Amino acid sequence: MSDGHDRKQGGAPVGFAKGLTNYGDREFSVYLRRTFASSMGYSREMLERPIVGIAHSASGFNNCHRHFPEMIDAVKRGVLAAGGLPIEFPTISLGETFLAPTSLKFRNLMSMDVEEMTRAQPMDSVVLLGGCDKTVPAQLMGAASADIPAVQLVAGPMSTSRHRGERLGACTDCRRFWARFRAGDIDAHEIDTVERRLASTAGTCAVMGTASTMAIIAETLGMMPANSAACPAVDADRLRIAEETGRVAFNLVARPIRPSEIITAASVENALRVLLAIGGSTNAVIHLTAIAGRLGVKVDLHRLNQLSDTTPVLVNLKPTGEHYMEDLYAAGGVPAILRELKPLLHLDCRTVTGETLGERLHEVSWVDHEVVRPCSEPVRGTGGLVALFGNLAPRGAILKRSAADPALFEKEGRAVVFESLEDLANRIDSDELDVNADDFLVLQNAGPTSSSAMPEAGYLPIPAKLARAGVKDMVRMSDARMSGTAYGTIVLHITPDAASGGPLGLVRNGDRIRLSVALRSLELLVPDEELQQRRAARPAQADGAALATRGYAKLYQREILQADEGCDFQFLK
Ligand code: FES
Repeated sequence: MSDGHDRKQGGAPVGFAKGLTNYGDREFSVYLRRTFASSMGYSREMLERPIVGIAHSASGFNNCHRHFPEMIDAVKRGVLAAGGLPIEFPTISLGETFLAPTSLKFRNLMSMDVEEMTRAQPMDSVVLLGGCDKTVPAQLMGAASADIPAVQLVAGPMSTSRHRGERLGACTDCRRFWARFRAGDIDAHEIDTVERRLASTAGTCAVMGTASTMAIIAETLGMMPANSAACPAVDADRLRIAEETGRVAFNLVARPIRPSEIITAASVENALRVLLAIGGSTNAVIHLTAIAGRLGVKVDLHRLNQLSDTTPVLVNLKPTGEHYMEDLYAAGGVPAILRELKPLLHLDCRTVTGETLGERLHEVSWVDHEVVRPCSEPVRGTGGLVALFGNLAPRGAILKRSAADPALFEKEGRAVVFESLEDLANRIDSDELDVNADDFLVLQNAGPTSSSAMPEAGYLPIPAKLARAGVKDMVRMSDARMSGTAYGTIVLHITPDAASGGPLGLVRNGDRIRLSVALRSLELLVPDEELQQRRAARPAQADGAALATRGYAKLYQREILQADEGCDFQFLK
């Protein structure tokens, strides 16, 4: 296997002999690389081992990943014990609340970093260590494009804390307490206390937000070892999972299974089923579309509706239910969900450990049905998400019906329009705002092609005067996204977006809009002729933003695709 200089496996170089810098003399390239690798203190035995890269997104600007040093140690333990050489390397990190204008803008940049650095550096397989909302999708997109054997490992969810006897977990409870503060129900001192208790451990948001949803999707796709998505960040099991992940990654060197063999049309459909069954985040539709799109697999929103009609919501977690991610792990984790959904899944899909998805389910012996309901007693009979279509959303929009008020599902309302996020911030709490609880709040120019780059602003606040009067929910719609931890009757991802000339940008104050969840429709009740006139009168750059002249912003503006294409870049597909 080894010639002492140029270790090979199946004829191909491995470890430090792989992917050499080209000086026109291969032996010299090996010699030079080993010289510099030796300066890091590696023995000859280590230098000849296959390399498992550990691409991680630890950063001082990412609270969710603050325990990564000990997780990286555990991965290394697993790799070393199996016979490999683990080498960690940092990539871009995307801490959800630390990025402006929004983390989504940089997801594709991180995916390029992961793709290029796993391809350019000498590694035989890679562990992708991420967790916060955009990091897992970015890592899976990058790994799918690089298509080298890869295993996902996630941070794991935060544990809950307590406030006045109540369990607290970021970030559904963040929103609940903030809404109470806005309504004058709690004072500044109490909100200050709550602020320090909402996120009190390492790990990702404690509910079924985007991070948890994407971790579960990664496990369902088969890109992680079984039962590794839901384990809390601070649980000792999390470190054992990290160690096991290192071993799995090493095993992929001798028996490579590439992302393109795991992320297939069938496994993507499984992921959609599970997304619907967990009442998962709307953001996951965008991310899964982007991940699958890298391998030529299309996520069709009409198919999403078909699956939604035949997939029950089984998981009783916030923001749509009662429990937290730590409860899901105690209840049996993702294998418990998969076992309950078994008749609806493609069980022959391959996973990163070499087993099929179906084989993973043999070991599930117990499920806490209070948290993961059986199909015979679901939380609700149909899936958590639906896609809406109509003249207001020709290429679709998403509503998380499991987090919405069914009393608002079949409704016609008067549009109260905000032309931008600034306009929203300036007027939403004004006592002069002409609004009542039956109106539809419409936010424009917050989609992927807008200057705000599709922030999680779709959870429009209830206008202060209505909140004070006790209004808890009303129909809200936009081309923006919504945090997976939020809830309400909120139509999102309206496509095409307003800034690219989509019909959402043509809505005016006082227009009538009809929402029908039963018909999956979203219609602007304005005659076509009138809409044509409004379209003709629109400025070319609909959101008034200046065109970027250089750098990543320019690349983003030139290449960004709409939500139904995963907000990926055209040139990365
Ligand atoms: Fe990182 Fe919620 S802020 S997962």
